[in-house]
Order: sequence, then C-alpha cells, then structure tokens
Amino acid sequence: MVRILGPFIGLFFALGALWAFANGAIADAPVLAQYGHFTAPTAETVFHKEPEALRLQSDGPFGTWNKEQLQRGFAVYDNVCKACHSLSHVSFRDLEQIGYSEAEVKAIAKTYQVPHYNAATGEVATADGKPTDHFPPVVYAGQGSPPDLSLITKAREGGAAYVHSLLTGYADQAGYKNDKGQELLKMFPDIKTPDGLHFNPYFANLNIAMPPPLTDDAVTYSDGTKATVDQEAQDVAAFLTWTAEPSLVKRHQVGWAVLGFLLFATVLAYMSKRTIWAEKEH
Ligand code: HEC
Repeated sequence: MVRILGPFIGLFFALGALWAFANGAIADAPVLAQYGHFTAPTAETVFHKEPEALRLQSDGPFGTWNKEQLQRGFAVYDNVCKACHSLSHVSFRDLEQIGYSEAEVKAIAKTYQVPHYNAATGEVATADGKPTDHFPPVVYAGQGSPPDLSLITKAREGGAAYVHSLLTGYADQAGYKNDKGQELLKMFPDIKTPDGLHFNPYFANLNIAMPPPLTDDAVTYSDGTKATVDQEAQDVAAFLTWTAEPSLVKRHQVGWAVLGFLLFATVLAYMSKRTIWAEKEH
C-alpha cells in the first residue's frame, strides 16, 4: 500500500512547489521584463560602491607594522577624528607599541581630559590623562551618532579598505554616475540627500551623517610626508587596523614559529620511525 501511495504523495509536494514557483514568476514577470531583475532596483542597489582595494604593510601572513604610518594615522585621529569619535579600547600607553617613547606617551595623554571615578566620594572628576588611562568618551552634539573607532575595521566588511574609501569617497550627488555610467538623478529623479547628511556611495545607504572630515593638510606630519586627503585616509585606516588587533603581526609570527616547530617534529618523528623499523643487518 505504502509503495503505491508513496509516489503520489511525492507528486503532490512536487506539484505544490511548481505551483508556488509559477505563481511567483507570474507576479514578478512585469518587474523582470522592466528591469531584468526579480526585484525593482533601488538607488542603494545600483549606486552603492564596494571599497577600493587598499594595500597595507600589515597585510598577509608575512605582514609587519609600518610604525611611521601608524604614527601618522594616530596624528590624523588626534587632530581630526577625536572631535567626534572615541577610541575606548585603546590606552595611551598602548601607543608605545607603535614607536612612541614613554615621555611622548605621557605628553599625549596629558592633552586629553579623562573622567576619573572617585570610589571614596562617588564623584566623577575630569583630569589630564595618564598613560594608563584609556582614550576618553566623546560628547558629540551633532547629527547622527559617531561609533567608537577601536574595532571599526573588524566591524565593517572591507575593514581598512572601507575606512579609506569612505573617507575619500564623498561626492556630489548632482551628476553622480556609477562605474557603468548610469546617472543617479536620471534613474532616481526624486532622490535627495536629506538635510544634514552627505552623499557618499561607499556608505550602505549612500547618505552619511559624518561631514567630510579630511582636508589637505588637516595634519602636519612630523616625518615630512605630504598630508593629502588620500594619504591621511590611508594612514588613519592603517592606524585603525592596529587598534582593532594590536597583536596581528605577533599572531602571524607565532603561527610561523609553530609551523616551523611542527615541521621539525615531523622530520624527527619520521627519522625515529626509520631507525626503529630499520631491517636488522645480518
Ligand atoms: C564632525 C564629527 C565627525 C568627525 C570629525 C569624524 N566623524 Fe566619523 N562619523 C561621524 C558621525 C556622525 C558618524 C555616523 C554616521 C552615520 O551613521 O550616518 C560617523 C561615522 C564614521 C564611520 C562609520 C561608518 C559606518 O559604516 O557606520 C567611520 C569608519 C568613521 N566615521 C571614521 C572617521 C574617521 C577615521 C575620522 C577622522 C578622519 C572621522 N570619522 C571624523 C562624525 C564624525
């Protein structure tokens, strides 16, 4: 009985699936005919851009930190980004890892006002930062909410490349064309960047609350590098790669050491095996 009924039950489900598919196809047919997709394109799907590739010295399993660049990136954070973004997972003394001396770290910490909680009185008093303090929270009064930047290169797809593209990617909405030559305002004439937001095709919804933060010479680099917007964006992206994982390079180095040891142990094991199982000479 089951043998006879089985195929019919199967057929019933197969027809059900076919019916659902046909129904969907009929409903979507006009959209498909008009756009060549099953869903109508939105400004985001047609004009959002993926980050441009960014090469950093810390990339790849043999990467190393470029401390000059990390210091330049910190200078960008210190001169520009800190007005709006905190960096709460980083402490001032961590900066010694990117090549600042103890005295320099002390001097940098002093330029920040850090709230300290006094356990005896329960009061919070703000004082000059000390090397052991973390970067302080930021009070931001503008539009939107600037995220903490400590882990941002881990939190966003594209990491450092995204940060670099976002910072250099502001554009004029009027006349904006994507790489295929499609013009935003021709395809979506009703679209307008809301007041207080800024058009940036690298941002997921194309309009970001952060005003373009970088300008040429926004910082004066102590190593003499020319501070163009692109240079500043690359440097701060490199710096934020470090803040998100200061142990990155160390982790790779330890990995190689472990692999080397395993290789050595394998050779040793193989040689012992050959010795132990060697044919006895007569
Ligand atoms: C005037 C304040 C201001 C300054 C200065 C500023 N930002 Fe922002 N930033 C914002 C705000 C506000 C947002 C939130 C934007 C939103 O959600 O629309 C933001 C968001 C971001 C984001 C996250 C974007 C995302 O995908 O969510 C990154 C990365 C960022 N800023 C990096 C920087 C860097 C690096 C600097 C320094 C070069 C900087 N910002 C300077 C206000 C600022």
